[in-house]
Amino acid sequence: MSTLPAAFLWGASVAGHQVEGDNTNSDTWFLENVEPTVFAERSGKACNSYQLWETDLDLLAALGLNAFRFSTEWARIEPEQGVIDAASLDHYDRMVDGCLARGIAPVVTFNHFTLPHWVAKKGAWLDADVPDLFAQFCGTVTAKLGDRLAAGVTLNEPNLPRLLSWILPEFVHEQSRATLDAASRAAGVERYRTGNVMVPEDYDGMQEGMTRGHLLARNAIRAEHADLPVGLSIAMVDDVALPGGEAIRDRKRAALYDHWLDLARDDDFIGVQNYERLTYGPGGEVPAPEGGLRNQMGQFVDPGSLRGAIEYAHARSGKPVFVTEHGMSTTDDSVREEFTAASIDAMLDSIAEGTPVLGYLHWSLIDNFEWIFGYGPRFGLHSFDTETFERTAKPSAARYAEIVREHRAPAGRA
Ligand code: BGC
Repeated sequence: MSTLPAAFLWGASVAGHQVEGDNTNSDTWFLENVEPTVFAERSGKACNSYQLWETDLDLLAALGLNAFRFSTEWARIEPEQGVIDAASLDHYDRMVDGCLARGIAPVVTFNHFTLPHWVAKKGAWLDADVPDLFAQFCGTVTAKLGDRLAAGVTLNEPNLPRLLSWILPEFVHEQSRATLDAASRAAGVERYRTGNVMVPEDYDGMQEGMTRGHLLARNAIRAEHADLPVGLSIAMVDDVALPGGEAIRDRKRAALYDHWLDLARDDDFIGVQNYERLTYGPGGEVPAPEGGLRNQMGQFVDPGSLRGAIEYAHARSGKPVFVTEHGMSTTDDSVREEFTAASIDAMLDSIAEGTPVLGYLHWSLIDNFEWIFGYGPRFGLHSFDTETFERTAKPSAARYAEIVREHRAPAGRA
């Protein structure tokens, strides 16, 4: 029998810029349109979810899911410094009510990478005022929506730049640098910096700014709604050590995760977003097994990785874990199906053995704009038609729904 609490959240995640379309006041939109740019293509209308949000909520409901994570776009709500766009705030307010009407718990991300253009012109998280401005924005959103939210995530993957710097080749940093230089010229500022594209020389300053941003935002959110669970979500590879590989694994954990896991000790949960596993031996990273499961980008994936990531996150932070993203990019949906089912099984074993987990949110509800890689990588439980925006459920969506049906506790059971 299931050992899950009745309140366990089964859902899917998206992010504003990746699905909404026409996020024209954002830093990412600006970067997509400069020359040269590291972006493979422009986001354009994305999945047109700013218009079709009710359709998206119906997709979740049709699968029997009870949670939806989406972001409230700062660039829409405060398109100019100090100017709150009431219509945008109302839009997210309606989304929250739309969730509740369908029995879906709304989980809001206050910052999913994208920042307003005006914030980027100041230098993003490198600017001394931005953490405070972000906290004010979070306060405004919480004052409006906070009474009906299930949880709030301040920052999405503030550790991603450092994590990627372990993976990405130098030429990507060169392209990013050239993109930011082009953006600075186009915006007529000395230092155009963004929430999504960062360069190694800025990592320390960005981390400092995001840390202050998180702490101030948490205070601002709690000041509005003291009982709204608040935390941040980090990107976590499952780092596995073979005998002799422990030192490398621990160095990596210290460099990429521990700062944020330690910070989470005063939060209500730690959001974990896992996609991959890497293994280390005495000589460094051990090559992935021949014929092992690979995602669309050619990276090795393992259904045991989610379990490894949540266990480390909990052990270090002492907090309940919220799987705010997990999934894989693949054009072979049967692989997604098997990978998702096996990953959830391993997570449930871990829960049965005592790891506290609040919920599992699959990335993603729908294929979407995968940042610098454009629309190529397919993470969705649904596809969409780029002309009509009609959504189609993939077989993996039905399989996920079946898993959820099997494990959702009957209402009323504690
Ligand atoms: C991000 C998402 C992204 C996903 C798949 C996470 O890094 O939060 O925005 O699309 O992983 O790469």
